[in-house]
Amino acid sequence: MNTLIDPHGRSFSYLRLSITDVCNYRCQYCLPDGYQKTGAQEFLTSDEIANLVGGMAELGLWKVRLTGGEPTVRKDFAEIAARVSTTPGIRRVATTTNGYRLAENARLWREAGISAINVSVDSLDPQRFAEITGHDHLHKVLDGISAARAAGFEAIKVNTVLLRDVNDHELPAFLEWIRHDDLSIRFIELMETGSNKDYFARHHISGQEIKDRLIAMGWTLREREAGAGPAQEFQHPDYRGRIGIIAPYSKDFCDTCNRLRVNAHGKLHLCLFGNGGHSLRHLLQDRGQRLELQNTIAGLLVQKAPTHLLHFHQSGSTPHLASLGG
Ligand code: 5AD
Ligand code: SF4
Repeated sequence: MNTLIDPHGRSFSYLRLSITDVCNYRCQYCLPDGYQKTGAQEFLTSDEIANLVGGMAELGLWKVRLTGGEPTVRKDFAEIAARVSTTPGIRRVATTTNGYRLAENARLWREAGISAINVSVDSLDPQRFAEITGHDHLHKVLDGISAARAAGFEAIKVNTVLLRDVNDHELPAFLEWIRHDDLSIRFIELMETGSNKDYFARHHISGQEIKDRLIAMGWTLREREAGAGPAQEFQHPDYRGRIGIIAPYSKDFCDTCNRLRVNAHGKLHLCLFGNGGHSLRHLLQDRGQRLELQNTIAGLLVQKAPTHLLHFHQSGSTPHLASLGG
């Protein structure tokens, strides 16, 4: 039974857990100047993570996504994945990565119990990929996706942030990629954060505009599956792959929220775009604190707001998604 329920009737089966703020990429819309070291760099230890996930799983949570920053910069990434995936009650462990270490590590991470992987690919043109991310890594990342296939991941998805006048004309190329390839691409609507306001103003494209383009090409909406993420999934009879649209600005986006977030310092964020988090770290030091941890989380859920205020350009206290894991 899931007891993680908020006053708006939403239940939370899915934890997005950031394990580091560090990222080696410099995506234009996220960390254009690269990761800047600020203050304490003491990210949650694998013991703290095990206590957190163990406590939440007993409340009914069953899916964990390891995010960052770039989660795979951590040397103990596979160890963390293994501990999370063997936690009683956890049925699915996923990760979101920029893919820079995927080619060499896909098998190791699969063996550590990760079954689903999302890899960011914002352009299929090597030069543009380098412009967006600061690294000439397109081929390396595509090799990583092939390695993930060979390693037998149950779900492999590509994340693409569509950006006006940067990569939006590549939509046909992305579609061509999945014509014969059984791959899911998620087009993510650019979100405004504390540090990307000008970039957002120049390059934001609404999810609705992308949906309209797909529908005009014969793509149709599928039904949402239990425990699914925030994407609306589209299919097309001529294509083996699928498209997901993540449109946080769309009406009712927050109604199906099933996610909680904990950042790399152990703060529970009730919303990606909320104002600040609530530290749980002092309750992650010992297994004996489990009940207190669970009561604290249950108490905080009461405060979960019905919706974000992005429409009013209020992006909360999140400076960029690298600080909270997207
Ligand atoms: N808006 C939309 N998507 C973003 N991502 C990072 N920052 C933003 C933003 N401001 C994406 C990354 C990655 C996923 C975790 O979130 O490209 O694919
Ligand atoms: Fe790194 Fe992801 Fe941000 Fe790009 S979007 S800079 S890969 S955290």
